[in-house]
Order: sequence, then structure tokens, then C-alpha cells
Amino acid sequence: MTQALDEIKIGGLGASRKRVEDSRFIRGKGNYTDDITLPGMLHMEILRSPLAHARIVSIDASKAWDIPGVHLVLTGEMMATRNLAWMPTLSYDTQAVLATDKVRFQGQEVACVIADDPYIAKDACELIDVEYEPLPVIVNPEQAVAGGAPVIRDDKENQHDNVIYDWEVGDAAGTERAFAQADVVSKLRLHYPRSHPSPIECCGSIADYNRATSKLTVYMTTQAPHIIRAAVALVAELPEHMIRIISPDIGGGFGNKVPVYPGYVCSILASILLERPVKWIEDKSGNLISTGFARDVYLDGEMALRGDGKILAIRMHTDADHGAFFSDAQPSKFKIGLMHSAFAAYDIPVAHLTARGTYSNKAPGGVAYRCSFRVTEAMFFQERMMQAAATDLGMDQADFRRMNFVTDDQFPHRTPFGFLTDSGQYGKCLDVGLKAVGYQDFLRQQAEAKAKGRLLGIGISTMTEPLGAGNSREYDILGIKMFDSAELKVHMTGKAIVRTGARGQGQGHETTWAQIVSHELGIPAEDIVVEEGDTDTAPFGMGTYASRSTPVAGAAVSMVSRKIRAKARKLAAHLLEVSEEDVEWELGRFYVRSAPDRGVTIQECAMAAYSNMPDGMEPGLENTAYYDPPNLTWPFAVYIVTVEVDPATGVWDVLTMVAVDDCGVRINPMIVEGQIMGGLTEAYAMASMQFITFDADGNCVGSNYLDYLLPTAWETPGFELHSEVVTPCPHHPIGAKGIGECAAVGGPAAFVNAVLNAIDGTGVRNIDMPLLPDRVWEALTYRRDVYGAPPVRTDD
Ligand code: CDP
Repeated sequence: MTQALDEIKIGGLGASRKRVEDSRFIRGKGNYTDDITLPGMLHMEILRSPLAHARIVSIDASKAWDIPGVHLVLTGEMMATRNLAWMPTLSYDTQAVLATDKVRFQGQEVACVIADDPYIAKDACELIDVEYEPLPVIVNPEQAVAGGAPVIRDDKENQHDNVIYDWEVGDAAGTERAFAQADVVSKLRLHYPRSHPSPIECCGSIADYNRATSKLTVYMTTQAPHIIRAAVALVAELPEHMIRIISPDIGGGFGNKVPVYPGYVCSILASILLERPVKWIEDKSGNLISTGFARDVYLDGEMALRGDGKILAIRMHTDADHGAFFSDAQPSKFKIGLMHSAFAAYDIPVAHLTARGTYSNKAPGGVAYRCSFRVTEAMFFQERMMQAAATDLGMDQADFRRMNFVTDDQFPHRTPFGFLTDSGQYGKCLDVGLKAVGYQDFLRQQAEAKAKGRLLGIGISTMTEPLGAGNSREYDILGIKMFDSAELKVHMTGKAIVRTGARGQGQGHETTWAQIVSHELGIPAEDIVVEEGDTDTAPFGMGTYASRSTPVAGAAVSMVSRKIRAKARKLAAHLLEVSEEDVEWELGRFYVRSAPDRGVTIQECAMAAYSNMPDGMEPGLENTAYYDPPNLTWPFAVYIVTVEVDPATGVWDVLTMVAVDDCGVRINPMIVEGQIMGGLTEAYAMASMQFITFDADGNCVGSNYLDYLLPTAWETPGFELHSEVVTPCPHHPIGAKGIGECAAVGGPAAFVNAVLNAIDGTGVRNIDMPLLPDRVWEALTYRRDVYGAPPVRTDD
């Protein structure tokens, strides 16, 4: 008779356990970087460039030094004497820490003041006199490659233009041949505007160098503490074992907190020079103007089609604007991230992608904002292209997708760009979505409404995203292989602590990692504490971004639990006085195969590990697992939106939004739903209101929340979520795939496709995001495409 525990009751896999971290967050008891105060702590502020491109003629900081309470003024010249004026980026480029020769974007760090309090430091910054000699400004790739364009990175020896890379993937000749066979060639050109992850908490650090112990401790808002430790060791030439990076609670990251920022480096140097803790907390404008932007990619492409709708080939070109420094955090092998994951859900024989990256006088970035390295742009282009092609063919957009999907029996499936997708039920997800939205009924209503002058539209977007970099064969950052880790210590009373190399920023890791241990060992989730973010205690890991936590660190949690179970089995055999082969496992308990009533619980095994182990066995019940995934995980989703567009004003309202997400086995269904809703909200923001743009002088429009809009609950439409399709990941220990980003990746195209579907028949092929009412109105009124980012059109 089984005595296995009820997994849901103990908070295991599938339990919608309430997030344990929330009990401190909602009581205001979180411990964020800015909550930390150390004895003798000083405060740092940054002076930023008002100009986008200018030569620095002189910097006079004497007045700043004279202010009482100022301890140090750092300039590029001083940094240079310590070889710290420049630092390496995560993409094999260099980035100025404090400008020496030129400023290359508005908001670039020029000097820092360290003072008794942040107000003195800010006042002193304003007294630093910088003389600039303005230079011509470049704000887009077209200008970057135009003849006579000023070379932005004239600091680099062999850089004679503004091109960072020319990269390609796929089969150019095969694609050419397929296009020659096409009955129809469908084309699309669009711009994915620059956006910003905009976490509620800005970036910041507190560096605390202790000369007596030679130890440097840095509390900071990083999503990847171990990468930062390695970077500090290499850049500041400090011994790695004397560096401790602690990421306390993080108020959202979304990719913004992966790169190494000048503020971190300056606070560390200041602490070393002053031998006092130095705190730097960025303000909101500083965050929006200078740190980790995303997207800013121009996409051009064409699709070769047979008359019956079969896709024969894809050709794509991307022009990415990386800003002044190429500092994307992405696998080094892929210059434009995983852009070549485009069209992975469709069975397409051949494809070719070319990509060019250029410098401009904008803040550096290209971060993976809630996305697995450019997958957002890839999926957006894919689904906009699918709609355009269906329209060109005169085919129903759902039928067109279905006939080209990779089918359930085709997995593992090799995409034309070389990825191997793992599993999925794409057609079923689409069916669930179409049923939920009442597709056929809606098409009827749409036709009736049109006859009365009302514009209804329906947009579909599907996406499959490669989540969980890496496998170490293909994925590395600066040569450091991408894998992850978990350490599990089961105490003698059966309580446990699990630590991973990931670092959550609000995703609920403290809740879900415990659920995985519970599933593997039967220890109630409430008896397990999760700790992340301290390099002195956590095992080495590559951090949390690109939804890699569940696919990699989560898998490591499973694997380390299994190692613990293997040792506990030996302890159980010893306690039950049978051989190990006679011992069976059920959740929470080992028992004798021939006598199921005779058993010992996992907690009894834990006690024995410290008090009654067999002769020769190493005491204790602890272990560590490093997990190098065999492949990426490939979740799939269908997002369907219906809208009504007001032809008089261009205002569009969302009528329904249906999301069908298949992320394999769900550890915590409630948390998964939260992740999807958050992603859909960001998708709606991208589609409807959010952008950062620049005027011709490189002034950043969007450096505050009056210009850069975040949707509140008031603007955000309702979402209907569907979870009925579950395709376990065949290579993940518990069958889970990532979910954190799917909705933000796949969602935007659904909204845009819906609006364009509503104005179908006007000849308008594209309106670039965001679909502000005036842009929709312009498209409708003048029956023309609207291209580029508002309000400064790149084509003007
Ligand atoms: O890397 P990141 O945490 O941002 O993304 P993720 O691995 O997709 O996980 C986001 C949250 O959803 C975590 O708390 C996961 O444990 C949870 N999750 C889940 O419950 N089930 C899944 N199949 C995937 C994620």
C-alpha cells in the first residue's frame, strides 16, 4: 500500500504555491541595494554628457573639489592613470568608463563625485566645468554607413568606419534557388523601435574595500553576480577570491542588469582609493538615458511562396543600431543574438540571414530585454511577415500558419538556420486559441461591421523561443561556457537550503526551486529555503536572463536533488537492514520492496546522515550539480488579439486577448500565469505606446516617464490565458521549458497584426510600433505605410 506524500499538498510540482518572497516584499521588508547602509559610507553621483558627440577640450573640477563634504572627484584622466578609463564589454568591444577623448552619446559618464551625501555629490557635479567641441551626430544605421560619416570609434586602432560586424547564417545559394521557383514573393520592411526594460529599481552598487583584509565586497543590482566577479577580477586586476559580489533583492531586471556599467567600476575604484564604502544609486533618467536599451533593429525580408501557400524560403537582412559601444550581453558566437531563431516553428526548407551592426551616437545596449538575445525582433518579424504573406496569397491567416507548421511527429526538427527544436503541438495550440476567440464568428462580425463602416481586426502571433542557453558547446560569454549550478544541503532535521548560480529579480525562484526539491525528495516546500546572489556562497553560474533559469539552474536543482536521493537510498538500506537493490522510492519515503510497510522517510535518512551512517560512508547530506543542457528548450505560444479601430481618430481598443502557452511541465501554474500576464502587458506597451527615439542632434526623447510610457492597470487590457496544451521538454529532467519571456516576445505582433487586419483593404502594409493613434490615423487617411520611430522619423 502506497504511503507516498500528496505532491500538491507538500508544495511540489504543479502546486500553485503562494510566492514566499512576497511576504517580505509586500510588507516593505525587502532588502534592495539602496536599503543597505554601511558604517562610514560615502555617496557617488555621475556627471553625464549633455551632448551626443563632442570632443572634450578640457575638464576643470577644481570648484567641485572645493565643496565641503566632497572626498573625491574622478575624471577619465584619473581613471586612465590606473588603466581604468576603458573596460572590455561582454561582446569583445571596449567601453569608456569615464570619457577621456570624446563623448559618444548623450548621457555618457564624464566624471564622478564622491561625497558625504548624494545631494552634496550632485551639487558638486554641477560645478565641474567641461568644455566640449561638438561633432556631427549619427542616430541611425543609414547615417552610420553614409559616405563621409564621422568615425565614432576613432579610439580603436583599426576602426575606419562605423560598422561593427557583417554576419550571416544559412544557405545563400540554396535560398537563391528556392526564390527562383517561387510563384509569389512577399516582402516586408520594418523597424523594431528602441525600448528600455525600465525596471522599477534603477541600477546601483555599494563597493566596500577593506584594506585590512584585502577583501572587496560589492552589493549590486546584477542579474549575473559571478560574471561581474570575473569582470572585476579581470578589469581591476584584483584576485578573484578576494571579491565578493552580493546581489540582494532586485526590483526587476529584464536584461537591464546584465551588463557591466561605468558606475559599478567607479564606485569600486573610489572605495579602494578612499578605503570607505561608496554607494552609487542611479536616478531614473540616468537609467533610461544610459543603461541597457533594447531592440533598435531594422528588418527587411522576403518570403518565397508556392501558390498553394507552402513557404519555400526566407531571406532576411537586419541592420542593428548598437549605440556607441558594442556591449550586448549575448553568446559570443552569434553577433545578432539568436535572430536566426526566426521561423523555427515553420517547416521551411532553406533560409539565409545577413546582419550588419553599426555604431551610433546613442547609449550602448542591445540587451536581451525579456528575451533570449534578439528573439523578440525575430518573432516579431516572423509573425508580421506571416500575416503579410497570407494577405498577398489571399489566404486565411490561420490556415496559412497551420499548413506551414512543423507537425508533432517532426521533432526533433532542424530549422533552416541550424537550430534543433525539441517538441511541440503547434496545431493544437492554434486550435485552442481560435476556439477561445471564436474565430469564425469573429470573421462574420468583422464583415458585418465593415459594411457599417466599423473597423474590427484580428491578429494572430505564434512563437517558439530558444530558451536556456546554453549548451556549453555553442554558448559562451567571453569564452566562459554557459551552464548553471545548484547546491543542496539537507540538514539533520530534514530541513534544507538550496543555492543556485541564477539570480531572480522577481520571478519567484525562492518559491519554485523549493518545489523542484519537493518533487524530487518529498521534503515539504516550506522546509526548504532558497538563496541566490552571493558569490561567496552560491555555486558558479551564469545568472538569470534569457529565461534560462528553469531550463538550466532549475534542471541543476533537479539533478542535485537526485544525487541527494541516491545517497539517501544507501542510508535507507542501512536503516532498514536490506540491500540497496531491495529499496524502492515513493515520494518522501524509501521502503522495502517485499514489505512496503517497512520504510523510512527522507527526514529519517537525513538524521542518519549525521548520526547513524554506515561504516565507510562520508557523513552529511549535501551536494552540488553543474548542469550543461543538451539543447535549448523550445516553448510555444499562440497569441490572438481582436481590436476595434476608430477611423476618425486612429484610436484602437483591444476587445479580446487570448494566450495559449505551452511551456512544458509547469512547476507553479500561478507563477507561470503571472509571467505570461507581465509579458503580455509589456507586449501591449511595445505595440501601443513605448519607444525611445532621438532627434537629429542625438537628444534622447524618452529619458523620463512623461515621454517613456509604462501601461498601468488602467490601460492594460484583460487577458484570457489557456494552459491546456502541455508538451514536456524531452531533455529537461522535469520536462519544463522556460516561460519568463514568451509573451513579451510573441505578444507585440498579435496587437500590430490585429490593427493592420482592421484596416485591411486600404493598401497599408505596415505601421511601425508603437501604433500611436496619430500614426494609425495617418495610415488610414493617407493610405500609406508609416515607417520609423515617432516623433523623429528616420526617413525624414
Ligand atoms: O530565467 P527566468 O527566471 O527569468 O525565467 P523562467 O525560467 O522562464 O522562469 C520564470 C518563473 O516561472 C520561475 O519562477 C520559474 O520557476 C517559473 N516557471 C514554472 O513554474 N514552470 C515552467 N515550466 C517555467 C517557469
